[in-house]
Amino acid sequence: MARPYVFVTRKCSEIELQPLYEVADIEMWPEEETPCPREILVEKAKKADALLTMLSDSIDKQLLDQAKQLKVVANLAVGYDNIDVAYANEQGVVVCNTPDVLTDTTADLTFGLVLATARRLMEASDYVKNNLWKGWGPLLLAGHDVHHKTIGIVGMGKIGQAVAKRATGFEMNILYHNRTRNSEAENTLGATYCSLDELLISSDFVVSLTPLTNETKELFNMDSFKKMKNTAIFINAGRGAVVNEHDLYEALINQEIAGAGLDVFLNEPIESTHPLAGLHNVVALPHIGSASYETRHKMMNLCAENIALVLKGSAPKTNVLT
Ligand code: DGY
Repeated sequence: MARPYVFVTRKCSEIELQPLYEVADIEMWPEEETPCPREILVEKAKKADALLTMLSDSIDKQLLDQAKQLKVVANLAVGYDNIDVAYANEQGVVVCNTPDVLTDTTADLTFGLVLATARRLMEASDYVKNNLWKGWGPLLLAGHDVHHKTIGIVGMGKIGQAVAKRATGFEMNILYHNRTRNSEAENTLGATYCSLDELLISSDFVVSLTPLTNETKELFNMDSFKKMKNTAIFINAGRGAVVNEHDLYEALINQEIAGAGLDVFLNEPIESTHPLAGLHNVVALPHIGSASYETRHKMMNLCAENIALVLKGSAPKTNVLT
C-alpha cells in the first residue's frame, strides 16, 4: 500500500519531523522565509493526505474543496485564523495547532517588547552603532519606567497569563480584559478583571494578545487610542488585524499615545517604507514571538506527532474545533 503523502509548506528541521518520516512520504518547500506560492500549495494539497502549514498559508474553502485526500492540517502556530476550521471539520479534516509549547517563549518576547519600547532600547542601540554618542547626558534617550506601572492585558489566555506572571516581577498593577474570567490569573497573580474601556483608560501599557476573530478585528482603533493615556504604550504580539494601522499611526504622530511595540502587522512582511516602521517611537519586529530554537523545534515536533497520529487513525494531541 502506498505511504501517505505529506506536504510541508516551509523548510523545517528533518530531525524534528522524524515521527512523520516513519509513517509517510514527505515533501518540503525548500525555502525558510519565502512562502510556497498559492498555486503550488493548491497543487500539492490536491494529492496530500496531510499538510504542515504556516500561519501565512491560507487554508480556505477553495483549497479544501480540491484537497480530496486531505485528513489533517497541522499549523505551526497556536493561532489558526489562516484556516477555515469550521469548513475543514465539516469535510472531515482534522486541524491541529501548537499550544502550550510556545507559551513562555512568546511571553518572554512580549515582555521584551514592553521593555524595549518603554526604555527605547532599539533607538539607543542605533545611537551607538551610528556613532551619534557624544557623551553621557542627563536626559539622553530617557524613556518610561516599567516597574510599578499598570499593565492592561487584552486576551488573558495562557500567553497573557505568562506575561502577567512576568509583570509581577516588576511589581506592576495588572488589569486584564478577556471573554471569560481567568480565576487563576486573579488568584495567583493578583490580576484584576475590567471592561475594555476601563483597561484602556487606566493602563500605562496596553498589551494585545487577543486572537483574531470577527469580534476582535480592528478592536484597537482611533476610538481606543483616544481613550488611552498620552503616555501609554501599545504592545501587539497577537495578530496584526486586531489593529487599525492607519489609526495607530495617527495616534502616534498626534501624541494620543507615546509609543508602540509591534511583533505583528496586518499584511506581513512589511517593508521599511511602512508608515509605522518609520516612526522613532515604534519598535517593529518580524513576527518572532515564538522564535527560539528550542520552542520552534518543539512546535515542529508537535506538528509531526499530530499528523502521524491522525494518519495512524488515532486522535492528535492538540486539535482545534469550532
Ligand atoms: C502563533 O503561534 O500563533 C504565533 O503567532 C506564531 O509565532
